[in-house]
Amino acid sequence: MFSGRAWRLVKFGAPADSIELQQMTWPEPVPGQVLIRVRTAGAGYPDVMMAAGHFPLLGNPPFGLGEEAAGEVVAVPSGSRFSVGDQVTGITGFLDGWGGYAEYTYLREESTIKIPARMTTEQASGFPIAFRTAYAGLVDRAPLEAGQVLLVLGAAGSSGGAAVQLGKALGATVIAVAGSQEKLDFCRLHGADHGVNHRTEDLPARVGELTGGRGADVIFDPVGGATALTALQAIARDGRMVLIGLASGEPVALNSMDMLLRNYSAVGVLATPGSAAEEALVWDRLADLADRGAISTPVGHVYDFLDVPEMIARQLAPTAGKSVVRITVE
Ligand SMILES: NC(=O)c1ccc[n+]([C@@H]2O[C@H](COP(=O)([O-])OP(=O)(O)OC[C@H]3O[C@@H](n4cnc5c(N)ncnc54)[C@H](OP(=O)(O)O)[C@@H]3O)[C@@H](O)[C@H]2O)c1
Repeated sequence: MFSGRAWRLVKFGAPADSIELQQMTWPEPVPGQVLIRVRTAGAGYPDVMMAAGHFPLLGNPPFGLGEEAAGEVVAVPSGSRFSVGDQVTGITGFLDGWGGYAEYTYLREESTIKIPARMTTEQASGFPIAFRTAYAGLVDRAPLEAGQVLLVLGAAGSSGGAAVQLGKALGATVIAVAGSQEKLDFCRLHGADHGVNHRTEDLPARVGELTGGRGADVIFDPVGGATALTALQAIARDGRMVLIGLASGEPVALNSMDMLLRNYSAVGVLATPGSAAEEALVWDRLADLADRGAISTPVGHVYDFLDVPEMIARQLAPTAGKSVVRITVE
């Protein structure tokens, strides 16, 4: 039995009123779980949705927040692939109430990897959700091919930032879309070939210029709403709109007649595990790309453990890069 502190949602509402730091105990892990002492945890827009009661896969509070975490394994069930002392990162048991903003948490064994040598602990905790999502969207669902053009909305954000990196690793030309010059500079620093400011530039016209009038083969869309609808004007014939999420608060208003006339498709993505064998292949490939330095988490702001409610509130107007929380000091 391990005991420590955990940030838990006690009711739906504004993070400052609805999240409490509580004393908890963590029983020994059962098969499928790995118990870690958390060093860092990754953040993102889903935290805001969970606090507000808008996250579709969760029931009512109380539950722990934080979808991903990195740290040291402190307990495993018999037959585990991992051993006490391993440094790992993975997706937490947040769907069962065990979040990463805590001194200990359970990781889902199937979605856990040893931390690749090149990764810092901050990069490690921001890796699993964003890159698993980008992989599901770009490899399984789009699929994106080398030489194609990838347009990434919300490109300075969590899933968008991972899509920029994975898109480059897959051999695409990547056009990043973001809402400020600072964010576009960040995207260029982390591998994007081009950047378009959706607030100040004519997005379809710029994509047309950058692609010789052809448009984008794949649009990665974690934003939805008006930005996504505008971006659709720049999709190529045979293009694929990859629907990831709705950080704008609105789904994109797809028009089936437009899809028919301009010959493009839209695919929904929910990055949940397939079979154990398929899942192992995905994580091996992601870990290998990270080991080779082809992908790495574009870390943004690093918060302290006691700042979790403020950190979650700030995801409503996120700054560039993946937000990460330092839970324990090395
Ligand atoms: N399908 C899946 O399996 C899956 C997995 C993970 C996440 N998601 C979903 O993907 C969406 C994005 O998550 P994320 O963690 O990537 O978000 P994020 O890191 O916060 O990035 C979202 C980006 O969206 C843009 N944005 C536009 N309007 C916004 C608004 N009103 N509030 C906040 N951001 C806004 C911002 O870019 P600019 O400032 O540059 O415009 C921001 O950088 C969420 O809906 C999440 O639930 C889905």
